Amino acid sequence: MQLGVVGTGHVGLVTCVTFAEFGHDVIATDEDQAKLEKLEVGDTPFFEPGLSELLQKHRNGKLTFSHEKRSLTDADVVFICVGTPPRASGEANLAAVENSAREVAGHAKAKTLIVEKSTVPAGTATRLRRVLRHERPDLRDDLDVASNPEFLREGAAIEDSLRPSRILVGADSGWARERMRGVYEPLIDKGVEYIETDIATAELSKHACNAFLALKISYINAIARLCERAGADVELVAEVLGSDERIGPHFLKAGLGFGGSCFPKDLRAFDVLARELGYDFTLLRDIAKVNDEAVDAALAKVSDAVWNLDGKRIAMLGLSFKPGTDDVRFSPALELARRLIERGATVVGYDPHASEPAQAEVPEIEIAASAEDALAESHCLVLATEWPEFRDLDLAKARELMAYPVIVDARNFLDGRAALQAGFTYYPVGRPHLAPDE
Ligand code: UDX
Repeated sequence: MQLGVVGTGHVGLVTCVTFAEFGHDVIATDEDQAKLEKLEVGDTPFFEPGLSELLQKHRNGKLTFSHEKRSLTDADVVFICVGTPPRASGEANLAAVENSAREVAGHAKAKTLIVEKSTVPAGTATRLRRVLRHERPDLRDDLDVASNPEFLREGAAIEDSLRPSRILVGADSGWARERMRGVYEPLIDKGVEYIETDIATAELSKHACNAFLALKISYINAIARLCERAGADVELVAEVLGSDERIGPHFLKAGLGFGGSCFPKDLRAFDVLARELGYDFTLLRDIAKVNDEAVDAALAKVSDAVWNLDGKRIAMLGLSFKPGTDDVRFSPALELARRLIERGATVVGYDPHASEPAQAEVPEIEIAASAEDALAESHCLVLATEWPEFRDLDLAKARELMAYPVIVDARNFLDGRAALQAGFTYYPVGRPHLAPDE
């Protein structure tokens, strides 16, 4: 099939390369000409495992790039993957979605299907359909809209797209449903679960999924706060919860809370949507409140460990919102860094991939070239993002390098017993702290 993709951000670019890998011919457009030129020579604008290889494989072959929306004229299906950033009110800003759909429609041939892949509030398709009809009255019943929410996780985006656990398609007309089955035929043939709904249901399901996952994380973080007060162990509580198959073991990792480009933004947008629909979804606000408390708790532990933050050097390992990505949007690590700096501490950060974007976001952070450089003369090590390489940290050496022997493990990632043996006082999340005899 001939497919078009508008927007080469995280979702858009991953969509392009995976559709090309499925054997479709893909044309991707973006308004950022410089970005397209880089993509054409195989340069990826962000770090995502496996992306670079697929881009190299398909660029100038199954996958081509163009600045012009008119290049999408021959596409059977055009996926809108542009950003939906939050407005100050929390509502998603859908101007880019509307403008993209309008431009695509302006050049479209009959029976072009325009698909929302960006996360949008329920009701967006109805508005888009109106835009299409206004733009192309000549194609009134020959342009349609479908919803195909994206469930990929950053850091595992290629894997999630090549082998998704399920595909969700919302469509209201027979020909739109048929088109979408054509797009996903290679996965349907492999037995991947394919869920077809009406458009409003698909749109709402995406927000419902993200909010539920965020709820699980906040639930376990609230339990962590209780465990800290009761002397219980949140890791064991999570195991007990997870062994009940009605609950399941996933997304029950207590830590520094969730960040990234989806959960925080989608929670707020879902809350605004619910209010617009006349329902006060208070639970969503509680999820966000508990998430903020995870950073408060880490801050309290650092203060408790080093006493006055003024003039203290805090080594922060991990700056991205989670491992496997250089994305620092809504990163709880950076929120913690900001709060430490506000209170007079110096934060020396190290991240295997996200140092540069972190520095751009919080210029006051001192960036170190390695974990060891960050640790030198520091009064506390904060493990903020659980990059696998931090597991190999030489704790004895870290102890020698640091001014104070303190670790705040905000992700329960390091070996607490080993830290204690190396002479550290070790503060985990939701479990008792370990201190050498004082
Ligand atoms: C998420 C959804 O998983 C994905 O389906 C959706 O399409 C986009 O949003 P992503 O933001 O890439 O994907 O990351 P994810 O792996 O879900 O993690 C989100 C955040 O939650 C991270 O900050 C992570 O550290 C945190 N998290 C996750 C926890 O704190 N505990 C957990 O148990 C799981």
